[in-house]
Amino acid sequence: MVKKRGNRGSVSNLLQEWRNKAMYDAGKIIPGLIVFVGLMLFAIYYNVGNKIEDPKPEKPVGYTSCVLPLEEIRAEHMVLLNEWRDEVIREGKREKVEAGGKMYEKSLQNGCMHCHTSQEKFCDQCHKYASVNPYCWDCHVTPEYGKALGEAN
Ligand code: HEC
Ligand code: HEC
Ligand code: HEC
Repeated sequence: MVKKRGNRGSVSNLLQEWRNKAMYDAGKIIPGLIVFVGLMLFAIYYNVGNKIEDPKPEKPVGYTSCVLPLEEIRAEHMVLLNEWRDEVIREGKREKVEAGGKMYEKSLQNGCMHCHTSQEKFCDQCHKYASVNPYCWDCHVTPEYGKALGEAN
């Protein structure tokens, strides 16, 4: 009699223990799921709110036109720079180019950057966005860096 009750007792104890454990796990899993879903929704919402910003290259102050029409210079400036370099260095053709009625040197530093004075605020803006890293400034000085160097000396 005692033994039987004890048996029944231990079976129901076991059952109770199992239920407690299940409840305990559910008690952890459900809030866990809620937090997880919440984080996912937050991440999605956050990303939607933060779409990658378009680059904003600084407009040159006091100039209205580039050495090529806007669409062309945007798409072809790397080609033009190579042409200028080859013409100047290999062919010795240093005649100036026209932009907005004035003449400018066929030069990265003294031409392009006569108007676009900041590598950081102009060239780098787009290049970071496009993940290109022209090595030109390993050798060529940008006017603003040059100025900073001059002031330091
Ligand atoms: C006489 C001054 C001047 C010179 C020299 C000049 N630019 Fe420009 N550039 C401008 C102006 C002004 C604009 C903006 C034109 C517009 O918004 O219609 C511009 C626009 C551009 C743009 C497009 C920017 C954008 O917002 O999309 C690029 C790229 C560019 N220039 C690169 C160059 C390069 C490279 C050189 C040298 C090969 C050069 N520029 C020489 C004045 C100049
Ligand atoms: C309006 C955006 C914009 C501006 C401003 C800009 N670039 Fe670029 N540049 C690009 C993009 C986009 C590429 C990559 C094009 C490609 O890979 O087809 C590029 C590529 C180049 C390349 C070739 C790099 C390579 O590894 O192929 C050179 C050189 C270059 N740019 C020079 C300049 C210089 C110098 C300036 C500043 C005077 C400048 N760019 C300003 C958008 C810009
Ligand atoms: C290893 C050093 C070095 C690198 C890197 C370099 N250049 Fe030059 N570049 C020179 C030298 C030296 C000259 C000759 C200067 C002269 O005779 O006026 C020159 C001349 C030029 C010229 C014609 C004259 C002038 O003063 O600008 C252009 C345009 C030019 N480079 C564009 C570029 C561009 C664009 C890049 C990057 C894609 C580049 N260079 C990278 C060394 C370099």
